[in-house]
Amino acid sequence: MEPTPGVLQGRRIVLGVSGGIAAYKAIEVCRRLVDLGAHVVPVLTEAAHNMVGPTTFTALASEPVKTSLWRDADPIPHTTMGQGADAIVVCPATARIISDLRTGRSGDLLSATLVATAAPVVVCPAMHTEMWEHPAVEDNIEVLRRRGVVIVPPEEGRLAGGDIGKGRLADPATVVEAVVGLFTPGPLAGRRVLVTAGGTREPIDPVRYIGNRSSGRQGHAVAAIAAALGAEVTLVTTSSLPPPDRVDLVEVETAAEMHDAVTAVAADADVIVMSAAVADFRPASSADQKIKKSGGPPVVDLEPTVDILAALGRVKSPGQVLVGFAAETENLVDNARDKLVRKGADLLVANDVSAPGVGFAHETNAVTIFGSDGSVRDVPLTDKTAIARAVLDEAMARLPDSESADQ
Ligand code: CTP
Repeated sequence: MEPTPGVLQGRRIVLGVSGGIAAYKAIEVCRRLVDLGAHVVPVLTEAAHNMVGPTTFTALASEPVKTSLWRDADPIPHTTMGQGADAIVVCPATARIISDLRTGRSGDLLSATLVATAAPVVVCPAMHTEMWEHPAVEDNIEVLRRRGVVIVPPEEGRLAGGDIGKGRLADPATVVEAVVGLFTPGPLAGRRVLVTAGGTREPIDPVRYIGNRSSGRQGHAVAAIAAALGAEVTLVTTSSLPPPDRVDLVEVETAAEMHDAVTAVAADADVIVMSAAVADFRPASSADQKIKKSGGPPVVDLEPTVDILAALGRVKSPGQVLVGFAAETENLVDNARDKLVRKGADLLVANDVSAPGVGFAHETNAVTIFGSDGSVRDVPLTDKTAIARAVLDEAMARLPDSESADQ
């Protein structure tokens, strides 16, 4: 979508250009940011000067190019720029500047400015595939993501030297969209979303448990999209998947721990998405020591767990949207409709986990979303991020508008 003209009016953006072949594309990013009203301060590393001429940036940006910590009239250009910036975008970002930002190393003007700012930072990596996939770079990116740095991932395509692969700088329009996104409240801004994910593990003894095949991928995708749409997100999960950016993570293992964690925040949530596969039964007691084989096959007595979704359905506050999931292997429509009513949910996301490409172990899913108002929406096989977006779209459509929510 084309950004609204003037959307960056009055915003001071430091455009950091590091020394990658893709530096020439930063010229287009600079022009687009200025066209949208931004005051653009271009900072080129020494290496970037080998790739592009500073004159072009100086001509297109709002200030002349800066490169040195020492040759500026201002004795502390990095703090002046870092403090004054509304955002810093590093485009292209080499493996070196990414590493500097991760460690806080501040050996040149751009890296020092990045350390001297509290403004949001957008990093647009561009490098050869081998470098992008190196564990050091992957690790650095992961840390930056967790700190809230917006990463605009590189794309597949032609790289320097004629190689083809992942590592090409994202399209200038995508980079600019990420910058604009920093200043545009998402449709879930000001809303609290609680998501559960993964399968619970109910201990039999200190080394064994009763579990299930849920990976947590679908719930983590819901949390990630909700955060990207501007919500304040709490993710209660049993999964060891990397947590999405900008979510409060609560790690749990058992149904009882999940129940406690959910109960602690549920009353304040505008949307609750119960995508976790919660055990229905747990061992009535867990042995203190590992059960030995010599004692013969053990008898494990089970007792029911609390049905968290049904409990939430009973105390649902007005305006709160409660979403359940159901993994079925037969009679999907009847089972889903029954669960929707029985558990007091507003939406029930049902999938037939016996279908190809659907459910636990897959990156993809296909669901039908049933509404308590009788609505039925089919989402055919797609990635779990698209499913997450469809589920949140349905939830958002049922939220009272902000004015009435504030009352
Ligand atoms: N759920 C829950 N607490 C439980 C069990 C399930 O909150 N103890 C939630 C799940 O997170 C999911 C929904 O209930 O959102 C559906 O779970 P499911 O296991 O399919 O439902 P059951 O009530 O167990 O129904 P059945 O055994 O008949 O399939």
